[in-house]
Amino acid sequence: MEAKEIYVPITLESIEPVVFPDVALYIKTGGNYVLYKNNGRDFSAHDHERLSKNGVEFVFVSKDDMDVITSHMEASAERMLKGDILNSRAKGKMIYQTSINFVNDIFNNPDKSSDLERTKRLIENLMLYLSDSPDAINSLETVMSHNYYTFVHSLQVASLTLLIHSEAYALPRDEMLDVGTGAILHDFGKIFVPQEILNKSGKLNEAEIETLKRHPEDGYVFLEKKTVLSPVALSIVRLHHERCDGSGYPLGLGATEIPRSAQITGIADVYCTLTNDNHGNKTMPPHIAVQLMRNQMKNLFSPALLDTLEKLVCTEDVQQFIL
Ligand SMILES: [Fe+2]
Repeated sequence: MEAKEIYVPITLESIEPVVFPDVALYIKTGGNYVLYKNNGRDFSAHDHERLSKNGVEFVFVSKDDMDVITSHMEASAERMLKGDILNSRAKGKMIYQTSINFVNDIFNNPDKSSDLERTKRLIENLMLYLSDSPDAINSLETVMSHNYYTFVHSLQVASLTLLIHSEAYALPRDEMLDVGTGAILHDFGKIFVPQEILNKSGKLNEAEIETLKRHPEDGYVFLEKKTVLSPVALSIVRLHHERCDGSGYPLGLGATEIPRSAQITGIADVYCTLTNDNHGNKTMPPHIAVQLMRNQMKNLFSPALLDTLEKLVCTEDVQQFIL
């Protein structure tokens, strides 16, 4: 049987006409993927306008072209964020647009999931809020310039953290924004970890592990001193590696001592690490990752919160991305 093509959605808004890489683009009509332009032809401003007028929110690229798209996103995001052309609101919007492409990755089946819509709304609200908070947006830019993967991972963790909160609790808007801010900055302390350690593909030695393990406390100390982030956000930065059985760090707190939002961010962090590698490729199906967190990582996480995670990320449709 012929292998089916796998498509990945890209937000139309994140495509800059002409400079976007020359890859085939597809649009989805009536459940089918139709070639919009082949490689060898520029995606023009006119194309952009036409699709936008027709209410097209996503175009699709072949999974095989994702590496070149990701490199492009990385370069253009960095270029625009580092310049003085954009104000912080526009930067927040740009980070949001870049992030949506990666947020899709946390779902088993992005096309069918109404949770994807919910997550997009949650992240959009968070980004609007962040763009008005110079402390938060500057911190996020610092993370992004230090290590792009940490930034992408942080977006995924923040999305899933917000989604779990919205599924399990009815939190007021302000608290959701504090949780989202903490989750998106949870690994801020990694800016103090050398690139060689963050990007190392082999196993870390003991000294490297010790250096890496300092990131929650180092991030907390820095942000607590230099920003006016809320106590909820700061506690997520400091405590997202604490575990229910007391085996976590930096404080070795027990289940009842770890704030709920830090526990949820910890769950989202481990889940996203298991299901995606350093290059954003999928490494483990959602249901296997949840099973592993239940069985091999027994007592580290709240079983009730794992139930919520499972409900959100595991769908009955096992045809991940295959259409
Ligand atoms: Fe971390």
